[in-house]
Amino acid sequence: MNKITLMAIFSFGLEAIVKRELQGLGFDQLTVANGKVEFEATPEDIPKANLWLRCADRVLLKVGEFKAITFDELFEGTKALPWEEWITKDGQFTVTGKSVKSVLGSVRACQSIVKKAVVERLKEKFKTDWFEETGPEFTIQVGMLKDMATLTIDTSGSGLNKRGYRLQAGEAALKETLAAALVQLSFWNKDRLLIDPMCGSGTILIEAALLARNIAPGLNREFASERWPSIQKSAWREARRNAKEGIDKNPELQIYGYDIDPSMIEASKANVKRAGVEVDIIFEQKDIKDLWIDNQYGILISNPPYGIKLGRFEDLNEIYISIHKTFRKKTGWSVYVLTADKKFPDYFKRAKPDKVRKLYNGPLEVNYYQYFGERPKS
Ligand SMILES: C[S@@+](CC[C@H](N)C(=O)[O-])C[C@H]1O[C@@H](n2cnc3c(N)ncnc32)[C@H](O)[C@@H]1O
Repeated sequence: MNKITLMAIFSFGLEAIVKRELQGLGFDQLTVANGKVEFEATPEDIPKANLWLRCADRVLLKVGEFKAITFDELFEGTKALPWEEWITKDGQFTVTGKSVKSVLGSVRACQSIVKKAVVERLKEKFKTDWFEETGPEFTIQVGMLKDMATLTIDTSGSGLNKRGYRLQAGEAALKETLAAALVQLSFWNKDRLLIDPMCGSGTILIEAALLARNIAPGLNREFASERWPSIQKSAWREARRNAKEGIDKNPELQIYGYDIDPSMIEASKANVKRAGVEVDIIFEQKDIKDLWIDNQYGILISNPPYGIKLGRFEDLNEIYISIHKTFRKKTGWSVYVLTADKKFPDYFKRAKPDKVRKLYNGPLEVNYYQYFGERPKS
């Protein structure tokens, strides 16, 4: 079996969780860095990684890495890599790029050099001057970091957050990958009550239900590398079949979502249907001020409106006060709140947060405040 190196890329702060996901999928040769984990695999592992990773944005195939401080070095280094093992004679390929702390700082120039070098290589290997570019898609990325060039091909296509279930999203909807991370960073499991009292389009709760049912997040979508002849079709078929067989068909979940905005509740209901987990979540329109909790134990995961994006500051204060009033004496409840507002712990005074994790919601730096509750006595 051919050994290859894959790279799962994701937003900063999710390193430990993506590492855990990869280990859970059986990958053990892992190298973790900021925003990426490299892992040893075979081409037949590409379907599994794409279908199952819940928190990563993409899976890239690493074609090579070398030092380049001149365009000649970039050209020759790129041309020396075995592109023909992946890119087909009729392949359509584009080159994207980024450059950080490198002499070769012009991204556009790097992209164009890499494109020329790949074309030269393919001309020689396929013994042709003419490429039709009607076949599968290959998105090459040249990443320059401290003068090291990393050349990759994107195996995912559209980002892995695009699960296909969320056609309707609120203006401040979380990426599905981040929502999945919030759930996995909590101690929630399928036997425990879960609520999101400001659920928007329902993303956190839908990701929780997918996790609880062991539904592969990518099961209902396609990936760019599905059309690559270098990966056997049977590997895709088998990965999908295994994923379908592994679904837990009868979990008894207690998941509730509320939002003040009726249009968000409608959106959540439509999304949950498309995700195939509509029997698992109950949605209801409700202002958090009216939330009444009579269970001794449970888990709240939510991201309130951010002052700068939605709502007025007074409304935010009211929301925080409601959380405080409802949960200050509920020591059996774990409370997990994602917000950019550093004042949140001044309002929720049950205790100091047990953990504060810095994450990124797109470009916005946010904190995930974690207050652990007592666990139910078994
Ligand atoms: C940042 S959005 C949540 C996005 C959600 N996590 C998603 O992925 O779609 C915050 C939500 O809080 C809701 N909201 C604002 N004030 C509220 C209140 N007083 N009670 C309940 N929900 C409220 C808004 O309607 C909005 O949908």
